[in-house]
Amino acid sequence: MRKKIIAGNWKMNKNLIETGALLSDLKSKVGNVQAAEIIVAPTFTNLHKATEELKGADITVAAQNMHQAENGAYTGEISADMLKSIDINTVILGHSERRAYFGETDELLAQKVDTALKHNMTVIFCFGEELQDRKSNNHFSLVENQLKNGIFHVDPSAWKNIILAYEPVWAIGTGETASPEQAQEMHAFIRNAIGKAYNQEIADEVSILYGGSVKPNNAEEIFAKPDVDGGLIGGAALDAESFAAIANAI
Ligand code: PGA
Repeated sequence: MRKKIIAGNWKMNKNLIETGALLSDLKSKVGNVQAAEIIVAPTFTNLHKATEELKGADITVAAQNMHQAENGAYTGEISADMLKSIDINTVILGHSERRAYFGETDELLAQKVDTALKHNMTVIFCFGEELQDRKSNNHFSLVENQLKNGIFHVDPSAWKNIILAYEPVWAIGTGETASPEQAQEMHAFIRNAIGKAYNQEIADEVSILYGGSVKPNNAEEIFAKPDVDGGLIGGAALDAESFAAIANAI
């Protein structure tokens, strides 16, 4: 049976001291959630602290990004090997903010996915349409293309290390969520696309998270949908209380 997952993407928030405080709060509030795997993604400089702080707790620490090259002259970048060396085995790739503000394309993301998988990391692969795509009824083909170009090239055996996160850009940080029906409709479409590109078994096993203004007051109805296997949480992940409420909604 596929895994339920609640992941917190902290983005560029929380310094070292604030990270320590939030993590110790999270340990007591979500450390014993059994119904889902809990993942937190602090910023690079706090990842090591997070793995130390969470030793023994049932919470996975993920990075928010990484570079596709093994190493070399890429000023300011972080490699898979660097992450692995501090016990980070999970990485978010393709977040819409990376795509929009840092020019990450499907083609680049395909390389990042390959590098992460080569290092035996788990990839949380993000994708989703913008408002104009939905308004012009292009959202299904756009999402399918993001998947085809970014991740459908991987070997079938790699899917055990892939988590998908559907995040409609118009719902991220806007307070506007996709309705549970819109989320379910897209998640079912995505699962069907995986079934066509690979096979039904892989499609049935992959966890597909929803992201975009998930809050304690809307989490339960979104997570109740059969093809929604959890959430990628931004703003509400910065507060232990609300993240715990969302985790418990699963
Ligand atoms: P949000 O962010 O929950 O603040 O909308 C979600 C995300 O960007 O992953």
